[in-house]
Amino acid sequence: MRFFLDTANVEDIRKANDLGVICGVTTNPSLIAKEGLNFADVIKEITTIVDGPISGEVKPTTLDFEGMMKEAREIAAIHPNMVVKIPMTAEGLKACHQCHKEGIKTNVTLIFSANQALLAARAGATYVSPFIGRLDDISEDGLELIRTIADMFSINNIDAQIICASVRNPIHVMQCALAGADIATVPYKVIETMIHHPLTDQGIAKFQADYKKVFG
Ligand code: G3P
Repeated sequence: MRFFLDTANVEDIRKANDLGVICGVTTNPSLIAKEGLNFADVIKEITTIVDGPISGEVKPTTLDFEGMMKEAREIAAIHPNMVVKIPMTAEGLKACHQCHKEGIKTNVTLIFSANQALLAARAGATYVSPFIGRLDDISEDGLELIRTIADMFSINNIDAQIICASVRNPIHVMQCALAGADIATVPYKVIETMIHHPLTDQGIAKFQADYKKVFG
């Protein structure tokens, strides 16, 4: 399983990229709005930091096929690494299929069932994004959805990649990797939490103390 960073915050993207652990970025309208910056400007800056797939979503107010296609072509034209994020709706599926025909990569988002993932894959999605945290939030098993989609794609020889989204903690990450996800898109704070372990910190302190006792 690979990592994407799920943010529009360029500082966090720089930090995660410097660690060498991410190979792509996903954004969504809420994350762009949180930064309070122009969509195209932020996306362009991100493409200068990470050399990998960058998901930029069509506007949340654009719900029709024609509108989505207009924006999809604009987003795709920003940089060759751009992936157009499209919501899982009937119009979204049509747009996903048209993007596939035009060679535009897509990430179908807001997936909450295996059948939605199957439809998105059949429409030609490059990536499907099931949201595990939001399912957990309503007492449904987000991880079970990842396992089901991974099994379904494997049995049916589907090559759309599964991006686990709405990942909230390090346990989610480990479980996604074991469930057969291709990618987990995670906030920077989850990566930070994964780096640390109290025994690592204690170990460093002890090595320092022992070393200083003898060598000053
Ligand atoms: O980018 C989509 C997804 O990762 C959002 O996560 O935490 O808002 O449910 P969250």
